[in-house]
Amino acid sequence: MPVPSKPESFMALEAIFLRHHRSPDSLIEILHHSQKFYSYLSDDLLRHVAARLQLPLSLVKGTASFYHLFRFQPPARHRCVVCTGTACQIQGAPALIAAMEEGLGLKLGARRGDGWASLSEVRCLGTCSDSPLVQIDDSIGRQQTVAGLRRWLQELEP
Ligand code: FES
Repeated sequence: MPVPSKPESFMALEAIFLRHHRSPDSLIEILHHSQKFYSYLSDDLLRHVAARLQLPLSLVKGTASFYHLFRFQPPARHRCVVCTGTACQIQGAPALIAAMEEGLGLKLGARRGDGWASLSEVRCLGTCSDSPLVQIDDSIGRQQTVAGLRRWLQELEP
């Protein structure tokens, strides 16, 4: 397997590889750390992990893509999430999704090509008594109204 051209780029992972004795059984754990350190799993990073664990790249990519929690693109600048759990559905999540889609120019599940925003759903944000909820970056909108959400979206930094 070819050695990546710039292994020093991923030096932060070396301690993790050592801790796990470069064992192929530690693949998921190492992918977690890879994403934590570098924010997403780039092709170069996946190639590096495959080379260090002496695993086929296809196996590393296949494993990573099986799990929804792994990202293969840099996170968007604004991560917009609508809760679509039962309580939030009943209290108006569909209207919030429509407002998000219109305000962001995105469909649910998509990320803008310029990396400005992404829109996704979550099954429950854990405080159903405050439904409906949305999350934008690190802020939670509780008992979120459509009008309030429209104002919030207009205030997002470019
Ligand atoms: S269903 Fe939305 S917070 Fe639980």
